[in-house]
Amino acid sequence: MTKINKNYLNLQGSYLFSTIAKKVNTFSAENPDAKIIRLGIGDVTQALTPTIISSLHQAVDEMKDKSTFKGYAPDLGYDFLRKAIADNDYKLRGCKIEADEIFVSDGAKCDSGNIQEIFSVDNKIAVCDPVYPVYVDSNVMAGRSGTFVEGTGKYSNIIYMPCTKENGFAPQLPTDEVPDIIYLCFPNNPTGATITKSELQKWVDYANEHESVIIYDAAYEAYIRDEDVPHSIYECDNATTCAIELRSFSKNAGFTGVRLGFTVIPKELVRDGQSLHTLWARRHSTKYNGAPYIVQKAGEAVYSEEGKKEIKGLVDYYMRNASYILNGLREAGYEVSGGKNAPYIWLKTPDNMTSWDFFDYLLNTANVVGTPGSGFGPNGEGYFRLTAFGNYEATVEAVDRIKNL
Ligand code: MLT
Repeated sequence: MTKINKNYLNLQGSYLFSTIAKKVNTFSAENPDAKIIRLGIGDVTQALTPTIISSLHQAVDEMKDKSTFKGYAPDLGYDFLRKAIADNDYKLRGCKIEADEIFVSDGAKCDSGNIQEIFSVDNKIAVCDPVYPVYVDSNVMAGRSGTFVEGTGKYSNIIYMPCTKENGFAPQLPTDEVPDIIYLCFPNNPTGATITKSELQKWVDYANEHESVIIYDAAYEAYIRDEDVPHSIYECDNATTCAIELRSFSKNAGFTGVRLGFTVIPKELVRDGQSLHTLWARRHSTKYNGAPYIVQKAGEAVYSEEGKKEIKGLVDYYMRNASYILNGLREAGYEVSGGKNAPYIWLKTPDNMTSWDFFDYLLNTANVVGTPGSGFGPNGEGYFRLTAFGNYEATVEAVDRIKNL
């Protein structure tokens, strides 16, 4: 008889954003006249920019001619894109990352879920609490989490690093137990908190000292405004011997529906006597057939001079939303943070409401959708996340509705 992967039974409920979508669909079926404003999932709303569109068109046209048609993409990514990333991103920031250390994929979500496959199931992972749920869920599926402990909201074998108001939503270095794999995400999803270069250096030094690996999710780096906040972990000394970096084209260039991302694994990152670069290359080439040529051409255009200008315009647009939400809610008496170097605003729910109660309250009374903080971990309870990725007019309307409650 076929047996299933029982680790899946250890997962708690359905995926956070699926649960929200279901609730909103039910509400909208029952209230067809409600003008719902969605500031829940961090999905972009603005169109792709002209340079990206023209690059997509050109690439499509190449497909109609036998001489320029492309079949399977190279499994690790086209050289033109890997080089564009290395030259225009890492080298400009003074990071020692070469084109062949970059693995192109169809998005950071897949990479952040899949990367754990190259590590032993015996490894102990540490995550920020609250955090993007994919890190925990993918480790639960792999059987690395231990059991779920009712009442705590935690898995027994995962180290949760509290990110609370008291510590500025920044995790402290683990002292009781040394994790083998440390997930860090900055600017942070969901709190919007950031880490300075000198603080991040401490994590890099810790990981090198203990031979841990940091999986650094920098999907939101385009939103960084402050000079002392690093865009890449490789801005820190010796990060190439302890860190993997995950990056996305979704939030900067609006590719949530186009799908493109990449993972960086430096060649000098070795654990257990093995090159992690080699392991991930093996995994990638076995399980993945490469992001589409058309999409990789669009990715290359992101790094053109015009592309960079246009992308900055997109980011500025969303950051105007972030400021409006931040200032509007603050004026209305909410305790808010984030939104300065990140497209997420993190707010304390009023009157000690639970995160899900506030979700229902906001949906029912203001017809505004956000994301309950508890969906990101036990320390997210009593908090709520709003995204700045909406239309400006809709964002203003949502904030005004909340203010008028
Ligand atoms: C989020 O809302 O947290 C993100 O959009 C989810 C994602 O990037 O997969």
